[in-house]
Amino acid sequence: MTTIRPFNCEDMLKFNNVNLDPLTETYGLSFYTQYLAHWPEYFQVAESPNGEIMGYIMGKAEGHGENWHGHVTALTVSPDYRRLGLAATLMKILEDVSEKKKAYFVDLFVRVSNKVAINMYKNLGYIVYRTVLEYYSGDPDEDAYDMRKACSRDVNKKSVVPLAHPVRPEDVD
Ligand SMILES: CC(C)(COP(=O)(O)OP(=O)(O)OC[C@H]1O[C@@H](n2cnc3c(N)ncnc32)[C@H](O)[C@@H]1OP(=O)(O)O)[C@@H](O)C(=O)NCCC(=O)NCCS
Repeated sequence: MTTIRPFNCEDMLKFNNVNLDPLTETYGLSFYTQYLAHWPEYFQVAESPNGEIMGYIMGKAEGHGENWHGHVTALTVSPDYRRLGLAATLMKILEDVSEKKKAYFVDLFVRVSNKVAINMYKNLGYIVYRTVLEYYSGDPDEDAYDMRKACSRDVNKKSVVPLAHPVRPEDVD
């Protein structure tokens, strides 16, 4: 049986099996603790019966006015536990939290090459809102899709009208 529970500090010592994935970003410890301190309800982990981390989601709420939204900063599931619906479950939790906070939409950034994740987000109701050029540093840099799904507060779905032109990272608020 899988347990979904809030992420805690000790989990940072146990998530290597998940973070070894090349598409999963590993940040400094202060980055994770900042999220734990500010947005604990947005940081959830899926744990197996033997205490192994199966996956986690980390996010936040940010923005002003009609830009008030939930944001997915990281979502990852260990290769051993994929295609079980864990990512979909974790996304639903983040969306429910965003609904309760009266957000207008949920958004996330994903590498344009990450076809599996893009397909998953589309199946979960997200659309490509805009392309952010050279968002990911590397050799070469890689573009990101900024994907969005409207919350119920955005009655007219204004937040998910795609932009016609790509933007630069410095234009992303
Ligand atoms: C993307 C990722 C989080 C998906 O996790 P997951 O728990 O396997 O996803 P789910 O089982 O919840 O899948 C939900 C739906 O997404 C789609 N999907 C997920 N993985 C897929 C795959 N490999 N091929 C095709 N469709 C896929 C399916 O529609 C699936 O529903 P279904 O199984 O009923 O058909 C996981 O592959 C991962 O951790 N990848 C590396 C990190 C990453 O890319 N994170 C996202 C960065 S923005």
